[in-house]
Formats: sequence, C-alpha cells, structure tokens
Amino acid sequence: MITPLNAPEYVRHEGIKKWVAAIAAKARPARIVWCDGSKEEYDRLCAEMVQSGMMIKLNQEKRPNCFLARSSPDDVARVEDRTFICSATKEEAGPTNNWIAPAEMRTKLDALFDGAMAGRTMYVVPFSMGPLGSHIAQVGIELSDSPYVVVNMALMTRMGKQVYDVLGTEGEFVPCVHTVGAPLAAGQKDVVWPCNETKYIVQFPATREIWSYGSGYGGNALLGKKCFALRIASNMGRSAYSANSPGWFAEHMLILGVETPWGKKYHVAAAFPSACGKTNFAMLIPPKELQQQGWKVTTIGDDIAWIKPDAQGRLHAINPEAGYFGVAPGTNQQSNHNCIEMLSSNTIFTNVALTDDGDVWWEGMTKVPPAHLIDWQGKDWTPELAREQGVKAAHANARFTVASTQNPVLDPEWDNADGVVIDAFIFGGRRSTTVPLVTEARDWAEGVYMAATMGSETTAAAAGQVGVVRRDPFAMLPFCGYNMAEYFDHWLELGRSLAQAGAKLPKMFCVNWFRTDENGKFVWPGFSENIRVLKWMLERIEGQADGAEHVFGITPRYQDLDWAGMDFSLEKFTTITSIDREAWLKEFELHAELFERLAHGLPPTLLQIKASLESRLG
Ligand code: GTP
Ligand code: SPV
Ligand code: MN
Repeated sequence: MITPLNAPEYVRHEGIKKWVAAIAAKARPARIVWCDGSKEEYDRLCAEMVQSGMMIKLNQEKRPNCFLARSSPDDVARVEDRTFICSATKEEAGPTNNWIAPAEMRTKLDALFDGAMAGRTMYVVPFSMGPLGSHIAQVGIELSDSPYVVVNMALMTRMGKQVYDVLGTEGEFVPCVHTVGAPLAAGQKDVVWPCNETKYIVQFPATREIWSYGSGYGGNALLGKKCFALRIASNMGRSAYSANSPGWFAEHMLILGVETPWGKKYHVAAAFPSACGKTNFAMLIPPKELQQQGWKVTTIGDDIAWIKPDAQGRLHAINPEAGYFGVAPGTNQQSNHNCIEMLSSNTIFTNVALTDDGDVWWEGMTKVPPAHLIDWQGKDWTPELAREQGVKAAHANARFTVASTQNPVLDPEWDNADGVVIDAFIFGGRRSTTVPLVTEARDWAEGVYMAATMGSETTAAAAGQVGVVRRDPFAMLPFCGYNMAEYFDHWLELGRSLAQAGAKLPKMFCVNWFRTDENGKFVWPGFSENIRVLKWMLERIEGQADGAEHVFGITPRYQDLDWAGMDFSLEKFTTITSIDREAWLKEFELHAELFERLAHGLPPTLLQIKASLESRLG
C-alpha cells in the first residue's frame, strides 16, 4: 500500500515532495505528518507521547510544560564507533573517521530502511540552522519516525513551515533521514523507547545527505546538530575554499558576549570537548565583586558556531541552533543558577531521576539527595542504594532540551543574521594533569598547534570508556566531516587569508579547568571563577595585562589575575599552572603519535612548531 503524501499547499518544492515520497515508499510508514512548527503541534505530540508512555508529564505547578523521557539503556549517548563519513575515498574521510565506500553503505542502508518505519508515523520536519534567510544559515529537512525527535527539533532549531518560504520552489536543503529502526507489525504493542541494537549514523559529504538508523538519542537522532551543523557543514565550509573565498568554519564551539568595565563588548568562541564545560561557560555568572566592576556574560550559543570572514577579514559567528541540549548532572544553584532558572519551565528532560512529587533530580543538583526517587531506568532509588551499589539516579549523560529564549542571559544579538565578530578563540580540554590553567598562543599558527594537539579525558557524552585521555583536536574529533589533517590546513590557510586582508586576528588561548590534587579533587573552582581567566584574556587583547612567557606561550603570573572576593593561594595557583618537563616530554610523544597518524596531508607548519616548542623545552 502506498502512503498518501498529503503535502500541504504551502510546500511548493517538487523536489521535496518527490524525495518524501521516495523515502516513504522505501520505509513504508503507516502515515506521513508534515510538521508546521506550531505550538498546537508541539502540545499535541507531547500529549500523544504522554499517552503512549514515551514521556511523563512533570508536576505542572513545579515545572510548567515540562516532560521527562527515559531512553532505552542501550541508547544513552552518541555512538562514535557507529558513525561513518562516506566520502568517495577513505583518504577524504581521513584516519580519524570511520569510513565505508558510499556504494557499499547505500546497499546496507537500503536493506535497513526497507520497511523500517512500518506501523509508525513519518514526520516531515523542516528546519533552518541559523537565523531564517541569513546568508550564513542553511536549511535541512528531517524525516523521522520519532515524535521525541520532532519536539526536540522544535526546541533546538528554527523549525516550521516558514522554512518552505526560504526554500521556494527549488531551494537547496540537506536531506536527513532518521528511523529508530523498530518497525511495528499490525497490532504489535510499541515499547516506550523504540530503538535498534544495530545503529548507523551516516554522512555522505558529496551529496550532503544524512542517514541515521537505530537510535533515538541526541546527536544520533537530532540530525541538525552534530551530523549537519558539524560533519556536513565542516565539509561545506572547507569546500567553499577557493581562489576567491577563504571558506568558513563549522566548529564545536560556544559563543558568548562579554561586557567589560571599560564599556567595550567582546565576543569569544570556545571549543571544549563534549561534557567539558561549554554550556556552563556560555552562561557564566561573574562573582559579585566582578559584577560590581562591570563584568557580564551573555550567551549566543552553547555548542556549535558557524564562522565566516567578511571582506575586511573579520570573523562573524552565528549559532546555527536555537536551543540547548545540555548536560544535567552537576548543574545546580551555585554552579549555574542561570541554567536552573532556564529549566524552570518548557523543558524536556531525558534520563534524569523523578522525585516523588513529580519533579526532577540529578547527581549534583542538591547536596543532600531526596530520600526516594525513581531513577532514569524507572526503578526505585535511595541514597542507600547509591552508597551500597553505586547506582546513579540520573544517567551521567542525562540532558535537558530547552529553547534559547528561556535563557535569562540570552545575548540580544543571538539571532542576528550577520552574527557577531569574534575577538578571541579559546580551546580547552579536561586534563587532570600536565596542561596549565591558561596559555596564550604567541600567534595564530601556534594557536592552531595548541588546538590541534589538545588532549581530553573522555566523558559520558559518547558511548565507551570514560576518563581516558585521547587527542581531541579542536574538540572536533567525533565531528570533523573530512580529513583532520586537511582541517588543520584550513585553519592555517584561513588565518593567513585574514592577515592578508589586513585584519587583526583573534587571539588564541588554551585553558584547562580540570587539574586535580592528590585526592583527585579539582583544584580550580571553575564555573563563575572562570571569568577571572576571561578577564585576563581580554586585558591581553588590549595590552593591559602582563604575563610570563614560557615554552608554550604566555601565562598569567599570580599577580596578573584579579582575585577580588576569592581566596586562592599562590600555592594552589602554582599546582594548576606549573609545567612539568617530564610530563610534557610524554605529551610531545602523544603529539608525535597524532601527527604520524595524520601524516598524509599534515601541514608542515605544525611539525615546525612542534620542533621549535620541543627545543624550547630543551
Ligand atoms: P556538550 O553538550 O556535551 O558538548 O558539553 P558542554 O561542553 O556544553 O559541557 P557542559 O557545560 O554541559 O559541562 C559538562 C560537565 O562539566 C558538567 O558536569 C559540569 O558540571 C562540568 N563543568 C562545567 N564547567 C566546569 C568548570 O568550570 N569546572 C569543573 N570542575 N566542572 C565544570
Ligand atoms: C555532545 O556530545 O557534544 C553533545 C551532545 O553536544 S549530542 O547532541 O548528543 O551530540
Ligand atoms: Mn557538543
């Protein structure tokens, strides 16, 4: 039986209708719903999911319009080993990406998608990554058989029928096809969170297609996010590089605005790996003393930045997203009360714990946990159980989905079609040893080196072992849609072309909030206090702050940071800024390993910088 297409009148794009019909013919959903992005639609889908058990309506007095979803235990994070870049050759994908030849992958997907949506509704979800109609924005359409995906896309992107006006009758869009991979036979009862043991997250860079099979969670399924805005968009930005254009960047970066006591506002983009502090840094609340001096941080984005140079060589950044899919555990009144306020209504929580009065809880939310909870798997939980058996109430990668407009410190420029001009780039990993609190690169190329060789301890944001140090260049290891060596070259080349245009290049810094003491406790309190480091950076831009030059660049001395209202001893400062020669010799071995792996196409500049840093270390 052929599913009727039922395309609404406002869809005037024949290419879209043909594509939707073709996918429907293959996946054979029971029905097609064309999403318009209206509030009625959002409310209806939420109500349907409450009915089916996929979502729980939270206490409406405590959390108006908030819901809780619990995923299947084998679908809780991005699956990096199931993510593929299917470029024409393996070389184009590079050694850091999984690759399968496009034809072979198409054969696999063809079999997997055959009847994959049986018994389900296929939703047609039109969305814009970036302000509608912005010259930096791009349009996508996701076909998905998950209503959870639809409501998340509605919060995370500019989703709705207005996108068809931007597309007109033949505008370009990125086709994104998603199925949870759990077809229903006639009369078969559905499970609460359908998914499949087999998972494929596939990008075809040449045709800019995305196919996702078997997962309903986060970056695996909300295809505008990592698949499109990073893997496909990084390809777009690189391939825009030509004699006439330096191309652009698609980065795993937050974007923030910062107001200073001297009346100038700056914009900073920062790349930290998954679950390493982007959301928190983008929403930072300065401590009272620095607020009184005039410091204020506002958010433009918390996860992804698209960055394009203008004719003067200034870098303009937009946040392609319109919402946050943020890590819940660790978020509390002290660490980020802006975030707590943001989540007080209109939020979807995934894999957090449920309190007896229909509210949410997660590890780190309050010092004393409630006496009883329902954990993220729907089981009874008590603090005793946690102590005795180590059971977590919320999954370590439990998340909230919320629209940007809920953010109390949303930057007024967040939706500006031209973006904001970037003054500084920050790169930071999660390192319990070795890497100092902050270092300023001496120039662009050295900054690229720092970012390229960045290491970070793995987190629960991806399936696999947590806490092992791996190289995560530019925090893009799981997200760069082409050869990483070429990506480094793109960064170096774009810098060169900006300098040529006579632009003052953004300064580059490297940070590490995560050094620990002999008891494994973080030495640097982080969160609000990170503004002290940011302040030093901006003063460096203005030539107003001193520092000491060492092997890797410039770092502040104790007296160069503002300690107003903070008690942090010189001794502690030394523990988080010291450079251990032995540790760095080992670190250079890891840089060498990375460069060997990426030898094909690696820019020689990086090897030269490595040699010069090593000779400085002696
Ligand atoms: P993705 O959404 O996965 O890309 O992550 P993110 O970089 O936005 O990470 P997020 O800000 O959500 O932080 C993740 C974890 O790091 C949370 O558990 C935070 O509590 C913790 N964290 C954030 N900032 C700091 C900090 O300055 N110091 C310390 N010690 N922990 C931090
Ligand atoms: C990340 O893992 O970096 C995230 C969450 O931001 S996800 O959308 O699942 O990729
Ligand atoms: Mn991320």
